[in-house]
Amino acid sequence: MPRERLVSPELISKDEESFNRTLRPPTLEEYIGQKQVVEKLSIALEAAKKRGEALDHVLLFGPPGLGKTTLAYIIAHIMGSKITTTSGPALERPADLMGILANLGERDVLFIDEIHRLPVNVEEFLYPAMEDFKVDIVLDKGMYARTINYTLKKFTLVGATTRAGSLSGPLRNRFGLFYHLDFYRAEELKEIVLRSARILEAKIGPEGAMEIAHRARGTPRIANRLLRRVRDYAEVRAGGEISAETTRAALRLEGVDDRGLDDLDRRFLSAIVDLYHGGPVGIEALAATLNEEVDTLVDMVEPFLLQQGFISRTKSGRKANEPAYRHLKLPLPKQATPAAPGLFD
Ligand SMILES: Nc1ncnc2c1ncn2[C@@H]1O[C@H](COP(=O)(O)OP(=O)(O)O)[C@@H](O)[C@H]1O
Ligand SMILES: [Mg+2]
Repeated sequence: MPRERLVSPELISKDEESFNRTLRPPTLEEYIGQKQVVEKLSIALEAAKKRGEALDHVLLFGPPGLGKTTLAYIIAHIMGSKITTTSGPALERPADLMGILANLGERDVLFIDEIHRLPVNVEEFLYPAMEDFKVDIVLDKGMYARTINYTLKKFTLVGATTRAGSLSGPLRNRFGLFYHLDFYRAEELKEIVLRSARILEAKIGPEGAMEIAHRARGTPRIANRLLRRVRDYAEVRAGGEISAETTRAALRLEGVDDRGLDDLDRRFLSAIVDLYHGGPVGIEALAATLNEEVDTLVDMVEPFLLQQGFISRTKSGRKANEPAYRHLKLPLPKQATPAAPGLFD
């Protein structure tokens, strides 16, 4: 069961999905941050439109909640075309994909989320569709088997993945455009919070927005979720006004600290520091100590702690770094502050 963490980068409820939809920027002009991606994409889009062609297939990769789905919708919007969305795990058989492909029009967008999770036979069925806009359908079995070659409209596949590394070479090679989304800077998240607040008609100033931005773990989805939670708090406790102070109080109540770490993150860091003397410690041992699943720790806890430099991953396990000690307000152990990197660092 996915746990409900206020700072999870993934969608945590159905209700959040519709909430997110209203906050999705509909155009590249309104898409905040990711400047390089936006610039390269707008050039590719303009060129394709000038030629009256479909846009090359696009692969979007990066951690959850950074705006991949949003970009897919923007692409379709700019191309003036229809978007059909599905996901790797939802396409169980080639027939599932065939049904979708056959309905695509010229220059339409097919968005496949979590494309690294396509079953192998579906992935192979996709190759000629991407490359030649053709598919081979095998009818009947054994002696009567025959193959029909079916021609598709020239569509654009937009694939999204959190793990570019787990995409097969042949699939990757069939994309023409690659865009990597990175964690957002606090300044950009502040803009996103202000924009969302305008749409939600929430009363917030730049200071309040910045307090949220600092706790949003570089992730727009989290920023929007925190805004919503803080807005509730402000309505009940502060007459609707979201000040910096209100934000701090609201998120302190939720256990989210000034770096966006929650209880689970802090328990994770404390375990390494206190129980394993700063590590290295294996992830299985940590999971057992914390009574958590290994996958939860690897997918939901570690990425942000690694990105922030709180921990590092070594061959012999996880290690706590200096920022972790400082954040937990614990004295540094002697070996955690080497004058120069050690031989094996
Ligand atoms: N660049 C951006 N500017 C403004 N809001 C954004 C941006 N990127 C993402 N968002 C917001 O964050 C939410 C999550 O984005 P989404 O595209 O669903 O992420 P992903 O598909 O990468 O998990 C969206 O609902 C949108 O409101
Ligand atoms: Mg998405």
